[in-house]
Amino acid sequence: MDERLSETSSFPRTVEWKDNKVVMIDQTKLPNELVFVKYDDFNQVADAIRTLVVRGAPAIGVSGAFGLALAVLQSKTTTKDELISDLEKARKILFETRPTAVNLAWGLEKIMKIAKSGNSVEQIKDLVISTAKKMADEDIEINKTMGKNGSVLFDDNDTIMTHCNAGALATVAYGTALGVIRATRESGKNIKIIATETRPVQQGSRLTAFELKHDGFDVSLIPDTAVGYSMANGLVDKVIVGADRIVKTGHVFNKIGTYQVATMAKQHGIPFYVAAPLSTFDMKSDAKDVIIEMRKGSEVTGIGDKKTAPDGIKVINPAFDMTPPELISGIITEKGVAKPPYEESIKKLFEAN
Ligand code: MRU
Repeated sequence: MDERLSETSSFPRTVEWKDNKVVMIDQTKLPNELVFVKYDDFNQVADAIRTLVVRGAPAIGVSGAFGLALAVLQSKTTTKDELISDLEKARKILFETRPTAVNLAWGLEKIMKIAKSGNSVEQIKDLVISTAKKMADEDIEINKTMGKNGSVLFDDNDTIMTHCNAGALATVAYGTALGVIRATRESGKNIKIIATETRPVQQGSRLTAFELKHDGFDVSLIPDTAVGYSMANGLVDKVIVGADRIVKTGHVFNKIGTYQVATMAKQHGIPFYVAAPLSTFDMKSDAKDVIIEMRKGSEVTGIGDKKTAPDGIKVINPAFDMTPPELISGIITEKGVAKPPYEESIKKLFEAN
């Protein structure tokens, strides 16, 4: 492990704005090295999102906003209309990087709206940069509030299963599902965690196991194939995961394998919770219209640089799946916990907003 990692008492921000540059943890290097990358071009941010240097719905939402903040600085125009047109081009490139997590579109739209409200080039630049920075700060506050709201659902001595990484590394800091886990511990409860490995990209073993172990949690790693075993043998009290997109009916899109975990939890009568901020909700789309990102086959035909499948094999590699509302015990947000029937409870969360 990189020396600097063991010296880091709490997690540095996953993504931040420093000296007119975007600084990110390169998550492809974890858990072996803590490497920070620095970008001054929105195209580099787009590449970082595409190649999973930064990943996790809220983290890519804020990264998209920071990408546009770089774009205003890169633009050499002196007119408002041309600046908006430059921003629009950057927005399109950033938007097309990953299709499933709705936070990316949310972050980009929020910045475009504020940019259009500006009267001069200078004012637009200031507004865009200050709004993107504010979004990063608010992400942490939202996660902490969500954590408190969710912590009451967990009991002393619970063992909680989580899938993928919905932690500090998937947000600016603190996390959504792992934020609830952090808040549960902060409320004085003793908890244990089971993290699934999350093939093929291994966000569970590379990121969640690393993040929780770093912060002193009692965490055990299991292969994805041991979810049924763990539940059938009484090793799991509750499950919590994050989300990339939640539609108004309560259908949850999250990392591939979430649906299997939720189905198995139902089979064993284990409560299955989802934690996500309101920026992860897509109140316009129907579940059937949500695009599931298909990623390259090499993620499946090898582990790291090692080839683990025959040359030329056909691969199906969806990055996300959909968990239907009947498998979900509650959706934890910064505005409270939505319970079934979700169409009604989700609507209420937005009305309270
Ligand atoms: O492909 P990834 O690593 O971006 O997928 C991440 C997930 O599916 C997370 O569970 C989700 O974004 C919630 S993060 C708070």
